[in-house]
Amino acid sequence: MDISLQSKKIVTIERFILENQPVNARGDFTNLMYDIALAAKVIAHKTNRAGLLPILGRAGATNVQGEDQQKLDVYADDVLYKLCDHTGRLCVMASEEREDIIPIPEGYEKGKYVLVYDPLDGSSNIDVNVSIGTIFGIFRTLDLDRRGRLEDCLQPGRDLLAAGYVLYGSSTMLVYSTGKGVHGFTLDPDIGEFLLSHENMRFPEPPAYYSVNHAYWPRWSPQVQAYMKWLRDGDDSPNLSERYIGSLVADFHRNLLRGGVFLYPAELRKPQGKLRLLYEAAPLAYLAEQAGGYGSDGTQSLLNVKPQSLHQRVPAYIGNRTLVEKAEAMLGTK
Ligand code: AHG
Ligand code: MN
Ligand code: MN
Repeated sequence: MDISLQSKKIVTIERFILENQPVNARGDFTNLMYDIALAAKVIAHKTNRAGLLPILGRAGATNVQGEDQQKLDVYADDVLYKLCDHTGRLCVMASEEREDIIPIPEGYEKGKYVLVYDPLDGSSNIDVNVSIGTIFGIFRTLDLDRRGRLEDCLQPGRDLLAAGYVLYGSSTMLVYSTGKGVHGFTLDPDIGEFLLSHENMRFPEPPAYYSVNHAYWPRWSPQVQAYMKWLRDGDDSPNLSERYIGSLVADFHRNLLRGGVFLYPAELRKPQGKLRLLYEAAPLAYLAEQAGGYGSDGTQSLLNVKPQSLHQRVPAYIGNRTLVEKAEAMLGTK
């Protein structure tokens, strides 16, 4: 892109972060966001060469979730960790790929922020060249005088200071919120910079899509099945079409742009669902609320659920507010 030809002002992610940092945040928060943006560029650089570099396939280990780690899961986790461990901005981190909290190594200064992340979302799509993502959330430490602890990570989504995701799709986008709307930046690969491309993103009405793994139909309760039918052809329903990628970030992003709902419901034998509360469901529910939408576990706002453990799972309904409130009503809990 020849940015000099643009008639409007050029807004790099650095400029936007600086001008829109949360109240009471100073340079550390801004710099933490830069660190994440840099990690996104490094991971995008690698994913864009998948197939050419030896980065596809399994890493040979199993993570705490019992899932086969892919090489890119491990790589993305490592990039985020190594770009954030030594900066003095964080007191602790937590990642989907690591069983325990990630302390800031002794010898490095500790900071006042907490970073939780899903380094590579949509692992099953890596080897088949389908969109994948990264999800992150930032909290403040609960105790400035101590090094980071588990409690610092186990905060409800309501206390998020910021959240966002990176989508490695037909282009690479970083979408984030600090509680003042949701804003999207597209990576210009020629200049290596994220530029503001989607200011103040809102779920449009009427919505267009619902996103769910329909193969799990036999595993759902009659109430969940009834809701699914309503989404498709209910009387007062917007008669949605179905789109499901199997990468939460990509499904969420499409629904944010076109309107819709992403669901990963409770299953009869797996009432906790699949998605992880801390670094998948809560950050996206935070973004949804900031975009005029809503995220629920079927009974209450996902932002009100306080995690009891790092890798706690939760059923999730996230998207246009009307669609998610209908889910709560039909699941019989409100
Ligand atoms: P991850 O790759 O981080 O483990 O997340 C995978 C998640 C999410 O991205 C996606 O929405 C969901 O798993 C897909 O699950 P199913 O294959 O059961 O549909
Ligand atoms: Mn994920
Ligand atoms: Mn993941």
